Amino acid sequence: MIHYTDSISNISAQQLSGFFVGWRRSVSPSEHLEILRGSDHVVLALDDCTNQAVGFITVITDGVIAAYMPLLEVLPEYQGRGIGTELVRRALDKLQKMHMIDVICDPDVQAFYARLGMVPWTGMIIRR
Ligand SMILES: CC(C)(COP(=O)(O)OP(=O)(O)OC[C@H]1O[C@@H](n2cnc3c(N)ncnc32)[C@H](O)[C@@H]1OP(=O)(O)O)[C@@H](O)C(=O)NCCC(=O)NCCS
Repeated sequence: MIHYTDSISNISAQQLSGFFVGWRRSVSPSEHLEILRGSDHVVLALDDCTNQAVGFITVITDGVIAAYMPLLEVLPEYQGRGIGTELVRRALDKLQKMHMIDVICDPDVQAFYARLGMVPWTGMIIRR
């Protein structure tokens, strides 16, 4: 069974293995925990059988007008079960009052976000 939480007070780095698949810059589980702690909102999906995180989303916001969802990932073996959808749905729920909600994603993920009410846009970035 998968359950969802927006509290990371009881989450340890040991529960955060296997993420950042395919990233050029590796992110260790302890850095992952720092990322979660540094975010304004977090939702985690946890597998009750293993007590491991299997998906997460982070949100950074000014709390008034704008929010950005920098990271969303579901472990490969858990994809296609509705977990990503539920993570985004719960994050958007926390952002109902925001005028701007932004995501940067590859073209092949646009259809996923479109199903959740988001529209394509243009932007500028730096990646190091
Ligand atoms: C994108 C991601 C979070 C989706 O998570 P998921 O748990 O597999 O998604 P869901 O099971 O909720 O999928 C919901 C629907 O979106 C579709 N979908 C999932 N990933 C998709 C993708 N990359 N492109 C297009 N559609 C996608 C599914 O087919 C499903 O459609 P269906 O209900 O008609 O079958 C997951 O594939 C992932 O972690 N990918 C690697 C990291 C990534 O790309 N993150 C986004 C960064 S912005």
